[in-house]
Amino acid sequence: MIKIAPSMLSANFAVLSEELKSIEAAGADLLHIDIMDGHFVPAISFGSEILKQISNFTDLFLDVHIMATNPEHCAKLLIDAGANNITFHYEATGDVIETINKLREMSADIMIGMSIKPLTPVDEILEYLPYLDMILVMSVEPGKGGQKFNIEALDKIEQLRRYIDENSFECLIEVDGGINGETGKDCALAGADVLVSGTYLFRSENIEKSIEKIKN
Ligand code: DX5
Ligand code: ZN
Repeated sequence: MIKIAPSMLSANFAVLSEELKSIEAAGADLLHIDIMDGHFVPAISFGSEILKQISNFTDLFLDVHIMATNPEHCAKLLIDAGANNITFHYEATGDVIETINKLREMSADIMIGMSIKPLTPVDEILEYLPYLDMILVMSVEPGKGGQKFNIEALDKIEQLRRYIDENSFECLIEVDGGINGETGKDCALAGADVLVSGTYLFRSENIEKSIEKIKN
């Protein structure tokens, strides 16, 4: 069954505790947390101090997506703050294996993911899949919520699904950007395991129904 990760970026921060309670009650499987450094992407979002408070507040699995030029630099603070998964960007790293090794040294318990931007071809990263717990396909340019789903992501998901299954790798496929009731179903059919959704879920009248709509 596909898992749903609401993206906290689209929550109403004035009533964040209520927002987190509602998504937990609505059946969210993970909480997606976007860390932006103002350099890899123009915006600055939030950091480890806020993550620590979130971690003390919710039991949801904390799926941390680092959009930063130097992911290793902030990863330890985020792990100590309660991150359960650290996803770094392929485009932000010089040596993927070295980055993965450094993250594994920081904690034996976290999951490690790698994200690819819409213009990065899947062929370039296939060799890293055996070392990753998750591959995150960006279906919008990273940096902000509320953008339109890029249909080309579906081919990438299919290609990854085939390759992962043929090689019996454990790597999950996550998709992030423009996920709603329709695009979410398309991603699930293409073979995704985890769907991130911000605007669609946090702006919906009934989050539980909207999660169900993506899942079924
Ligand atoms: C975009 C972020 C996403 C974003 C998704 O850079 O990585 O997680 O919050 O938001 P929606 O679902 O609105 O596209
Ligand atoms: Zn994200």
